[in-house]
Amino acid sequence: TQSPIETRLLSPDSEHIAYAAMMLAKGRLVGMPTETVYGLAADARNPQAVAGIYAAKGRPSFNPLIVHAPDLEAAQRIGRFSPDAERLAQAFWPGALTLVVPLQDGAGIARLVTAGLDTIAIRVPAHPVAQDLLHAFGGMVAAPSANPSGRISPTRPAHVMAGLGGRLSVVLDAGACPVGVESTIIGWQQGRPVLLRPGGIPAEALAEALGQPIATAPPVTDTAQPLAPGMLASHYAPRAPLRLNAIEAQGDEILIGFGQVRGEFSLSERGDLVQAAANLFDALHRADATGRPIAIAPIPDHGLGQAINNRLERAAAPR
Ligand code: TXA
Ligand code: MG
Repeated sequence: TQSPIETRLLSPDSEHIAYAAMMLAKGRLVGMPTETVYGLAADARNPQAVAGIYAAKGRPSFNPLIVHAPDLEAAQRIGRFSPDAERLAQAFWPGALTLVVPLQDGAGIARLVTAGLDTIAIRVPAHPVAQDLLHAFGGMVAAPSANPSGRISPTRPAHVMAGLGGRLSVVLDAGACPVGVESTIIGWQQGRPVLLRPGGIPAEALAEALGQPIATAPPVTDTAQPLAPGMLASHYAPRAPLRLNAIEAQGDEILIGFGQVRGEFSLSERGDLVQAAANLFDALHRADATGRPIAIAPIPDHGLGQAINNRLERAAAPR
């Protein structure tokens, strides 16, 4: 454990972005808003800065990180893109898609970023503040979600401050993240695309762009050789127990609604999956803050519902 440092919560004007970029250059950690969730960013070339991410999150060291690049051209300096990978990048970047591609020779990325794998996860974020920060910094950042390992992901600056305040130098305050769930992660096995993590871009849209179906990675059981190590069963966990597919509250439960199921508050009263994804983590943070057990309404398993259900199943998994 390290002694706490001052964490500055700053509006994302150009002066503060320049300051945050300077902090990155010095090897410090920055809370970076993205369209999916807030990231805990460090200079991807600086091994000590990257080690700081793992330390701040209490993250298992085998779990590799996503590198955030300003554009496809920069991404191609660190990863080797097959025609399919390039097609997905062209269609969905900037955006909520992460591609796991072979590591480029001489990429200069800290080994700890890939946790020793010969592949690298890369994403070009669409959020204007993330873009501004990457351009001001002039490099690339490794950034997992800005939450303590295993806890609920942050979609608001207050979530970042509550979970990691005192362990990072700056949080750029861009309000709530518009997508609200992490990026979809696609990798390739024997040349075939595989969905490693459902996320902000529905798998259906990716399959359509590729003109071929995308297989789903088998659930991770062997923690020594995780395919996408972030897919470990218990993850995104609130402190309280979570009951899924609930139609009404039992006992002291706080019910989170969706569509017809009303609850104490709702992910989306009109049953809109995009709105529900954007509200998901904030709803879990809010419910968790009550200290009561949590129940949540059934969510349809298509479109962004796949990403939502994936997070909920893992939040409800035994720990
Ligand atoms: O939306 C997002 O993706 C957010 C924002 C901040 O960009 N980031 C995020 O990062 O969710 P993180 O670290 O929480 O999740 C990274 C995921 C993990 O499941 C990790 O195992 C997987 O990416 N990953 C990273 N590198 C990989 C690789 N080379 N092969 C397979 N999976 C990889
Ligand atoms: Mg995470």
